Amino acid sequence: MSHDATPNLDFAGTTPYEDYVQADVLTHLQHPLSDDPGEMVFLVTTQVMELWFTVIVHEWETATRALREDRVQVARDALKRSVRELEALNASWRPLAQLTPAQFNSYRSALGEGSGFQSAMYRRMEFLLGDKAASMLVPHRGAPRVYAELEKALHEPSLYDEVLRLLARRGLPVPEAVLERDLSQKYEPSPEIEKVWATVYGGQDVGEPDSELVLLGEALTDVGELVWRWRNDHLVATRRAMGSKTGTGGSAGVAWLEKRARKNVFPELWTARSHV
Ligand code: HEM
Repeated sequence: MSHDATPNLDFAGTTPYEDYVQADVLTHLQHPLSDDPGEMVFLVTTQVMELWFTVIVHEWETATRALREDRVQVARDALKRSVRELEALNASWRPLAQLTPAQFNSYRSALGEGSGFQSAMYRRMEFLLGDKAASMLVPHRGAPRVYAELEKALHEPSLYDEVLRLLARRGLPVPEAVLERDLSQKYEPSPEIEKVWATVYGGQDVGEPDSELVLLGEALTDVGELVWRWRNDHLVATRRAMGSKTGTGGSAGVAWLEKRARKNVFPELWTARSHV
């Protein structure tokens, strides 16, 4: 090809880029509900976050499947990709992080009862982390595809369930009650699992490289930390934008989010550290 070759301009139908990316669809999905010029970035940030949720769910489902098949390296690669993606997700708070109440008010009433609380993809993330609740399906009764996906996820083992099953196969004393638990219920932390993680983390000689299970534990800890950061960035942005008003979704607002943000993801991976 000659030095000054320019890109092709001539395509019979749509461009191959369009065929792959569907940019025309993607960039015409923005329908603000108010005349406020600041609403566009609120809407697009929300859409961007939905796309990151989708990628992250894909990575965690890949990791969950790989763990079931004892392919720990494949699982860890997927988790590590998700860590970079969570960093990008969290960075996308920037355009909304300093909204004033007056700025937010200029389009808030147009949102009606709309709230991120109704995000099905966020719920899929929480389910994969072990935070299951059948009640979270209720808002989606009118959307068959979304409902079916959430219902399937509710009854499947979470990422953390598969981690614990792997630890059991590796000979660690994971109680039968944990392995046989009702998967559609929220995972409840236990002292036995805390002890299992303390054993994993404490079980190597000085100077030895970290074991495969420690590396897996650390990838999960990175995930847990970044999810916790997303919740807290959301909380602070909300506190700045609306103080202690009630949420558009009908919750107590900041007070409700504070309670949600206080939870640790993969709790025993944090508490076990006191015993290593
Ligand atoms: C600064 C703008 C924002 C404010 C003031 C805000 C406010 C709130 C409030 C008050 C709630 C509690 C439920 C309710 O009553 O509505 C909530 C929940 C939620 N919001 Fe936002 N939000 C903002 C931006 C976003 C964005 C950009 C997303 C991205 C998708 C998002 C996703 C969520 C999710 C997933 C929940 C449910 C959290 C849970 O179930 O623990 N929010 N938001």
